[in-house]
Amino acid sequence: MTYVIALPCVDLKDRACIDECPVDCIYEGERSLYIHPDECVDCGACEPVCPVEAIYYEDDLPAEWSDYYRANVDFFDEIGSPGGAAKVGAYSFDHPIIAALPPQNTDLA
Ligand code: F3S
Ligand code: F3S
Repeated sequence: MTYVIALPCVDLKDRACIDECPVDCIYEGERSLYIHPDECVDCGACEPVCPVEAIYYEDDLPAEWSDYYRANVDFFDEIGSPGGAAKVGAYSFDHPIIAALPPQNTDLA
């Protein structure tokens, strides 16, 4: 099981979640962040700090965002398991379903 980052993160990338993750398993793409499904230890620390409620335990993912489970998992198909996001930095690509989204309204107000 894993936590998943969904649509509200896209084009916003608040990054508050990164500071909470004890295993540094939240990786940055061009328009969104992604939680590594094998490196995540299901601690739940990231979920409450996201200001736009983009993070969900996989069983609690809203139905309209069910595709984001695969997006978070498949993002790592070619990356593998680096064992820490800080050392690899931001990737310059996204999962196809996120890359295909129109620009998102990132106004928090
Ligand atoms: Fe994104 Fe929320 Fe983290 S907007 S970067 S999931 S704090
Ligand atoms: Fe990391 Fe825990 Fe979230 S391991 S991705 S802070 S659930």
